[in-house]
Amino acid sequence: MIQVFFAIFLTITLANQVVYGDPIIGIDLGTTYSSVCFQNNYNVEIIPNEKGFKTTPTVVALSNDEFIVGEDAQEQAIINPNNTFYDIKRLTGRSCYHPTVSKAKKNLLYNLTIQNKRIYIEVPKYKNESPKLFSIDQIQAMVLTKLKNQASSYLGQPIKNVVMTVPIGFDDSQKQATIDIAKIAGLNVVKIISEPKAVAIAYGKDKEQGEKNILVFDFGGGTLDITVLKIKKNYIEDISHGSEINLGGEDFDFNLVKYFIEQIKESTKIDIKDNKYAIQALKIEAKKAKEILSSQKIAIIKIKNLIQGYDFNHSITREKFEDLNENLFERTKLTIQSAYDQSNLSKDEIADVILAGGSSRIPKVQQIIENFFTQSKIIKDQIQDELVCVGAAIQANQLTKKGQQSTNRIVEISKTPISFGVEIEGGLMSIIIPKLSKYPLSLSKLYTTIHDYQSTVLISIFQGENKFTILNTQIGEFELTGIQVAKKRIPQIEVTFSLDFNGILQVTAIDLETKSSNNQVIAKNLLRPTEEEIQNLTKDNEDIQKEEEEKLQSIEKLKIYQNEFLKDLQMSEYKDLLKEIEYDQIIQLLTSSTQWVKMNEHNTKIKKEVFKKELENLQNQINKILNKKRDL
Ligand SMILES: Nc1ncnc2c1ncn2[C@@H]1O[C@H](COP(=O)(O)OP(=O)(O)O)[C@@H](O)[C@H]1O
Ligand SMILES: *[C@@H]1O[C@H](CO)[C@@H](O)[C@H](O)[C@H]1NC(C)=O
Ligand SMILES: *[C@@H]1O[C@H](CO)[C@@H](O)[C@H](O)[C@H]1NC(C)=O
Ligand SMILES: *[C@@H]1O[C@H](CO)[C@@H](O)[C@H](O)[C@H]1NC(C)=O
Ligand SMILES: *[C@@H]1O[C@H](CO)[C@@H](O)[C@H](O)[C@H]1NC(C)=O
Ligand SMILES: *[C@@H]1O[C@H](CO)[C@@H](O)[C@H](O)[C@H]1NC(C)=O
Repeated sequence: MIQVFFAIFLTITLANQVVYGDPIIGIDLGTTYSSVCFQNNYNVEIIPNEKGFKTTPTVVALSNDEFIVGEDAQEQAIINPNNTFYDIKRLTGRSCYHPTVSKAKKNLLYNLTIQNKRIYIEVPKYKNESPKLFSIDQIQAMVLTKLKNQASSYLGQPIKNVVMTVPIGFDDSQKQATIDIAKIAGLNVVKIISEPKAVAIAYGKDKEQGEKNILVFDFGGGTLDITVLKIKKNYIEDISHGSEINLGGEDFDFNLVKYFIEQIKESTKIDIKDNKYAIQALKIEAKKAKEILSSQKIAIIKIKNLIQGYDFNHSITREKFEDLNENLFERTKLTIQSAYDQSNLSKDEIADVILAGGSSRIPKVQQIIENFFTQSKIIKDQIQDELVCVGAAIQANQLTKKGQQSTNRIVEISKTPISFGVEIEGGLMSIIIPKLSKYPLSLSKLYTTIHDYQSTVLISIFQGENKFTILNTQIGEFELTGIQVAKKRIPQIEVTFSLDFNGILQVTAIDLETKSSNNQVIAKNLLRPTEEEIQNLTKDNEDIQKEEEEKLQSIEKLKIYQNEFLKDLQMSEYKDLLKEIEYDQIIQLLTSSTQWVKMNEHNTKIKKEVFKKELENLQNQINKILNKKRDL
């Protein structure tokens, strides 16, 4: 245990952000959707995926030893539920003891396992290992890899650097995990910015404006974040932040599911509450119904064969939906009130309220906001999935050499939404970095011992606003040994907290007499994988990519051969050479092979060798016809 010595002295060092070469992309790795953007001179481009969509589902599936990412993974979810990994972001950087993890273990259809206090996805079999564990980071890295490849083929050059966005509530460990995930995907995170800040950056772009306060109301699938920022031309500053980390779209779905379970019990006398698969099916349909009710007055839900030959067929009105969710709307109101109170602003000082996140599409939610912020402009047309990504790309561009020289550089002031400190005698919280401090920064405080001849102190690090540490969140701890041999209250131990430009905390403790010291990046302290493990995962990811690339290449080769040959056949040379029957034979071979590829190119059961073989066979058969001709 340590005790506050007496004097407090503060040092503030503002670390400079490094400048990078072109290009840096912006990525929003979301819970449900992800996207990648790039700023090209003045325009921000949302880089489409291979299907032409601006967003890609954050879903990964394993099928016949092959990983599938995005739409294809989502589409096969119904037939392959145990091996379709979704909602992974909620587990990012979480301790295995976090309530989110036990809730996920209970509800998810894939198998989450804890080993050595880390969270893994367990599959019964992968290649010749059974079972096989995949880390949460590794699976998310596959989504990032896809986005990276998308960007590098779009921009025609390899991509290394990225700005990533994270929810404003992400703690140290979650931010560190985000950096690790990128590393596994072969990406270097040059900066992490919060999602509301990215929204504000994207919103403020191109606006010639005086100073004003804006409020970003981001209501997603799992959390409600309300952030107030000050913006003016090329300037953006965090003002305050309030959130309800356990309120989101899912809670509305859950209330609907509860209601439907009751309805089913009434009409069939069957209680499906313990049937994980039936619940999952209901949940998917409840979510759809909820979304429909945002634009229509009534939604109809039909699920064939929900249980034992029972077809579920039910309708729900918007009115009923609002009734069922009254408690959630109340909580939304309270969260708005509390977040607003924390900003110390009057209502007329909040110029614009920007709605973000899927759940802010719910009409009742919009009505609550309109009733609360009667004097603000409510911006609804910004509710789109790509806004966060666009902000990240603008931020990314600022960090390039070109961006640094631009006259339109954004000055950006970041403030920590939470206080950091250490535990002192009596279980009290001694704050070192207070809430709303601008970062990057570094602050120190002096502490001393509470026992005579104490040689070791335990530095316990907490975040939160409560006077007692027990009511705050512990984010790390370490020992400092080699303390000056002395009576209590004599040694001087300097504890320094530094927040880097990503808001990641590093703690150093030093005995000023003996110079014995210890230094920890807090997130690294808590069960994060080691550098070596990350390197191994990076290698695994590359191997998986290589294999998938080889399959794509063999499909590509086959397609090229088919197409080129079909084109060549139009040339008179062939027409002169071949009899009509032979000509038709070749066309026949090519068309049936083309059709076969079309039908099977997405079939994970068919390995690259089969496509290679198909090419060989096709070439052989065609050559046979041609050679016979030449031999004559
Ligand atoms: N039209 C809609 N009406 C109501 N809720 C919606 C609508 N569209 C999306 N949602 C909900 O928004 C949530 C997803 O929020 P979003 O901001 O997209 O992602 P995240 O999962 O990253 O928080 C889901 O619960 C989804 O059901
Ligand atoms: C998924 O796993 C569960 C539990 O192991 C099993 O009962 C179920 O049949 C599996 N479903 C499919 C579609 O493989
Ligand atoms: C998950 O893994 C555990 C441990 O191997 C196993 O006992 C369990 O049956 C698996 N569950 C599913 C749903 O596959
Ligand atoms: C579903 O219910 C509605 C009315 O409740 C009925 O008109 C419709 O035929 C039913 N559909 C099916 C497929 O049972
Ligand atoms: C609001 O006022 C309180 C009390 O004076 C202060 O502690 C807090 O830091 C202020 N918040 C902001 C965002 O200025
Ligand atoms: C990393 O991979 C190497 C080579 O396969 C292996 O020897 C080593 O144990 C791995 N390290 C970790 C931490 O997994």
